[in-house]
Amino acid sequence: MEKFIVNGGTRLEGKIQISGSKNAVLPIAVAAAILGDSTTVLNNVPNLTDVKTLSAVLEGLGATTKLKNSTLSIEPINRLEYEAPYDLVRRMRASIYVLGPLVAKLGRAKVSFPGGCAIGPRPVDLHIRGLTCLGADVDVKEGYIYAQARKLIGTEINLIGQHGPSVGATANVMMAATLAEGTTVINGAAREPHISDLANFLIAMGAEIDGVGTDTLSIHGVKQLRGTEYNVISDDIEAGTFMVASAITNGDVYIQGITNEQLPTVASKLTEMGVKLDWDDYGVRVTTPNKLKAVDVKTVPFPGFPTDMQAQIMGLLCLASGTSTITENVHTDRYIHTAELNRMGANITLDGRNAIIKGVSTLSGAPVMASDLRAGAVLVIAGLAAMGETVVSRIYHIDRGYEAIEEKLNSIGAKIQRVDDTY
Ligand code: EPZ
Repeated sequence: MEKFIVNGGTRLEGKIQISGSKNAVLPIAVAAAILGDSTTVLNNVPNLTDVKTLSAVLEGLGATTKLKNSTLSIEPINRLEYEAPYDLVRRMRASIYVLGPLVAKLGRAKVSFPGGCAIGPRPVDLHIRGLTCLGADVDVKEGYIYAQARKLIGTEINLIGQHGPSVGATANVMMAATLAEGTTVINGAAREPHISDLANFLIAMGAEIDGVGTDTLSIHGVKQLRGTEYNVISDDIEAGTFMVASAITNGDVYIQGITNEQLPTVASKLTEMGVKLDWDDYGVRVTTPNKLKAVDVKTVPFPGFPTDMQAQIMGLLCLASGTSTITENVHTDRYIHTAELNRMGANITLDGRNAIIKGVSTLSGAPVMASDLRAGAVLVIAGLAAMGETVVSRIYHIDRGYEAIEEKLNSIGAKIQRVDDTY
């Protein structure tokens, strides 16, 4: 396994281009491979291990995929293979996205029950609720989800769970509903930018969807969907991660390919801390003219502060003056990175869903371990600001969701080396 050696104390200066959104391209690729009747070409696709893993799942179902220079071409499935096997699904939760499309297209699906992961149990009861409402018979046994339906019938569905809307369930049910008979109304739909991007892609394929960007989606079923060419939206979380990286090094970085509308609450929170954001039509310049101030952050579904930026803002708050509180409302166990940050000299205590961060003057480099992709990202960010050397292990987590993160950061002044495990 590889590691990052991060030499801290450098100021980031320059321009970074944001890649395509991981959380948009994953469901979009599924829709293209299973729901489409002809070839789709996706542009602005990030070169991530999650994209490669999903391509393997889709190839297992009979699709053909080819990723070259950020363009992913997808020939749809051409046989009645309806099983997504454990050894692929266990590697990536997003494989669950094939469930709804397979039932809609082939009338049946067998998908391994996705495992939990470092950020907590990852239930799929809302996915199952939605498909059952559409008329599918769904059974969970021997670690697999079995679903079948002669025909899906549109209906009104409430997809709100105990933690609010579900991105994955909204994607799964919306995709299935595009080929159902009649109209499906999803109440309590997720509104994340990647859900809107998936909806816009489905519309480009010929789907009829109203309410894009709102918490009520109306999908009028059609007979078939055609392949298309589509540009995937840029990755709001990658952009937010680099905004924090600039701020924590007191840098001056222009982040190209993002709009304020994609991460409004991240932008307002950083501004509240004293980070200066100068937006133009193509991106944002991030500078930090003053000492950073402590703020309180609550993670909630879009358009609130995203859970996928919780670790990164925590890293920045470690060096703010004063005491901050973060409340993680979306995932039940997304504080594993706090122990690693404390090893670097941070002062963070946990109290249930709350993390209390007392600002310190400096962080010190240390050997640390990534536990999920965003936890890995904050350890790299903290290493940029820390004095001395930080060794981040298990960086395969980071490669799942960040395209060439060390190349992008080194191009604006960071000193990060990718080495193998023998280092
Ligand atoms: C998506 O996961 C993202 N992954 C996650 O990003 C992100 O953290 C999450 O949405 C929330 O924004 C992808 O898009 C591939 P959810 P997902 O269903 O769909 C509960 C990253 O860092 N829930 O919106 O699995 C669930 O336990 C990753 O890029 C149910 O109770 O998240 C959680 O508490 C990590 N029942 C909450 O809802 C269900 O059936 C939100 O989960 C489904 C979810």
